[in-house]
Order: sequence, then structure tokens, then C-alpha cells
Amino acid sequence: MSHIRGRLQKEATEAVVRYTSSLAFDKRLYKHDIQGSLAHARMLAKQNIITVAEADALAGGLSVVLDEIENGTFVFRPELEDIHMAIEARLFEIVGSVAGKLHTARSRNDQVALDMRLFTRDAIRQIQSGIRNLERALVGQAEEAATVMLPGYTHLQPAQPVLLAHHLLAYFEMLQRDYARFNDAYKRADVMPLGSGALAGASYDLDREFVARELGFASVTGNSLDAVSDRDFVIEYLACASVCAMHLSRLAEELVLWSSSEFGFVEMDDAYATPSSIMPQKKNPDVAELGRGKSGRILGHLMGVLVTMKGLPLSYNRDMQEDKEALFDAHDTLSASLDVFAGMVRTLKFNSRNMQRSLGRGYILATDVADYLVRKGASFRDAHGITGKLVGYAVEAGKTLDELTREEYRLFSTLFDSDVKTISSAASAASKKVPGGTAPGQVAIQLKKAREILADND
Ligand code: ARG
Repeated sequence: MSHIRGRLQKEATEAVVRYTSSLAFDKRLYKHDIQGSLAHARMLAKQNIITVAEADALAGGLSVVLDEIENGTFVFRPELEDIHMAIEARLFEIVGSVAGKLHTARSRNDQVALDMRLFTRDAIRQIQSGIRNLERALVGQAEEAATVMLPGYTHLQPAQPVLLAHHLLAYFEMLQRDYARFNDAYKRADVMPLGSGALAGASYDLDREFVARELGFASVTGNSLDAVSDRDFVIEYLACASVCAMHLSRLAEELVLWSSSEFGFVEMDDAYATPSSIMPQKKNPDVAELGRGKSGRILGHLMGVLVTMKGLPLSYNRDMQEDKEALFDAHDTLSASLDVFAGMVRTLKFNSRNMQRSLGRGYILATDVADYLVRKGASFRDAHGITGKLVGYAVEAGKTLDELTREEYRLFSTLFDSDVKTISSAASAASKKVPGGTAPGQVAIQLKKAREILADND
């Protein structure tokens, strides 16, 4: 823009203007930018750096700009470099030369740092409410699942019976950690950088604490060089988002597997599935697949900003403009994923019969048979060996453990008695009574805690 070309004697080429402009994406920061400017203007007046009348004129003009942007009449002129310049240019048109006072004791470097912190704080709160929403859906399904059981897996091989509610609540635990991680990230975003100027601070008697209070920040930054060039808070947001997206992709993968006809554990609601354009029998879990896929871009954005920041000398460098699209896209992707997943989970129909049938396959009670022998006096290692042979025999004979007779059991150990036939999935699960175990009583405790957490948040 010519009015800030300063010592430069040539206009930038059109390609350079396009290359360097961030307006197309940072216009999204308009509300935060105006909010920051209003606080800054009030502080300047309070400190007698500008007059109250000037601050009022600036505030009036800024609120007109805000209205224009919100009702769609604001013209984003592509030749203006970024949202800060676009708003200032319009402010000149509305209030005249007094607009030039707004930038007193401020640089776009501390201004953009402020805008990004304001945005990140809001983004974190929005994601946290999305997390709560998905948690509610999971807890609702866990409640409904009551004592339904399915095989729990390790190595994707049937391992031991678990309650469906237990399985669903495992995701609640992950999301709880995500929620807490975002809280922690919030604390470091919640620091006010204005007053850092371009890099060295400002040579006016500013009241930075006042601005912090106006904008609801917990504190002010302690070093101006760091404040204008710190994007850790963006990286932390992206790191938290990446872990959360990774969790969503695990849930997605399970739903993809479970909805296959091989598993048949769950049926997606038609609203969350798609047909095939060629195979009429198909009901594809595209929503879950896309959730799994979109996690890749969120992880990618984390890497992108880390690499952008790596090796940057103090203080502000224009490279840092690249933080925005990464943050915005990761945020949009994660919040949409959380919303869609909440609906998808809420409408899942679990097939307990198929789960029950799977429990009968895969010798899932072998550990319980070994535990049985331990209770009858065998050492666990002996019991493990005996049960291994017993399972080998059953596989060979094409029978489930259930179908073996007491006599067949006794071929492997005389410790087997008729009560070996009481071993069942339900008994197996019921025996896992340790805190955090899959026994119905323990799962009920988990559920109660989860419900309390959600109720606290309502
Ligand atoms: N668009 C810039 C960014 O996003 C704003 C700060 C520009 N500062 C500067 N000295 N050019 O980082």
C-alpha cells in the first residue's frame, strides 16, 4: 500500500502483493483485531496519550467497521496486505485523520500476536465444548449398553470378554485427557502481548495491565522480543488438537471395523453412511473414514508450524504469517470432526447378538480356565501350559471350550472338576473387580464419575 511504502520507491509487483498478502485468510481475525484495538484506544486515552474524544471517535469508527464486516458490506480490498491494514484503511475513510492515532505505541507485530492469542483462547473453548458433546454421546451409549459384552482385543485378536460400556468409556478417558491438555494450553495463550511494539517495547507510558484486564487476560508477557515472536501457543493448540484427532481416528477405525459384515458389531445410522455408486449392497462408513483421514491434516499442520518456527532468529519474522492457515484449518477440521462424531456415536446401533456370538469364538475364556486351575492349586505357569494344550486340542477337534466334556478337560489336568463348566464370559467379566476393571460394578463407578463430570459442565 502506497501510504506505508515508507522509504521504498517502487510499488510491489502484483505477484508480490498476492504472495505476501494474508488478507484472504486473516480477515477471519477481524473481531479479535477490533476487540484489541478498542482496548488499546481506551488505554491510550486513560494514559492521556490521546484524548477521550479521539478514543471515542476511534471506538465509534471501529464499531461501524465491525458492523460492516458482519453485515457483509465491508469491501476487502485485495491490495491491502492484511486484516490490520484493511480495518485501519476503512477507519480512515469513516473517521478521518484521527484514525492515524490508533496505531500509537503499537506495531502490527504485537497486534497480530494479540489477535492470534485472542483467537486461540476462543478456539480452545470451542473445542472443549465439542469434546463435551462427544463425551455425552459416548456416555449415553455406555449407559444404554448396560451389561452387553463383546470380545476385547489385543493385537486385534480376541483376548478377553469386556463390557461394551467399558470399551466406550475408554474413549471418554482419552477425551478427558484431551480436555485437560487444552486447559493447560489455554493458560499459556492467556497472556497479553500488546505493548511489546515492533520488538523492543513502547516508549509511551502504557498501562499494559489495563489492556490485559479489558481483554480478560490473566497476565502480560514479560519480554517484548519473545512476545512478538512467540507462537508456542499456536503449536500447543495444534499439538493438543493432534492428540485429540488421533483419538478420534482410533474411534473411527473401530467403527469402520465393527460395522463391517465380518464383525457386525454396530450399524451406523443411514445419515452417517454413504451408498456406493456401483455396488447396491454397500453401506459405507465414509464419515468415520473421513474423520480418520482428516486427522492426518491436523497432524500435518502441527509439523508445518513447528518447521516454520524452527531456526527463526528473534524476533518477528514474516515466516510467522504461515501460522494462520494451519491454525484455522486444524481448528475447523477438529471442531467439525467432534460435532459430526457426536452425532454419529449418538445414533449407533450396537448388535449385541453378534457380539455375543463372537464371544463364543476365539477361545476367549482360556485365561479364565488358567485362572481356574490356579484357584485349584496349580502355579500360573503350569496352568498356562495346561490350558494351552487344552486349547490346541479343542482347535484340533473343532470344538469351543464350552463344547468340551468334563472328561476331555480331565485329559489335561485332574484339577478340572465339574465346576469348570461355570466358566463363562459373564463370570469372567464379573471377576475383573479391580478399580478400572471391566466388572459391571467397576464400570458403573466409571459411568457415575463420567456423568458427574458432564453434569458439572452443564
Ligand atoms: N500479516 C502479518 C502476520 O500475519 C501481520 C504482521 C505483519 N508485520 C510486519 N512487520 N509485516 O504475521
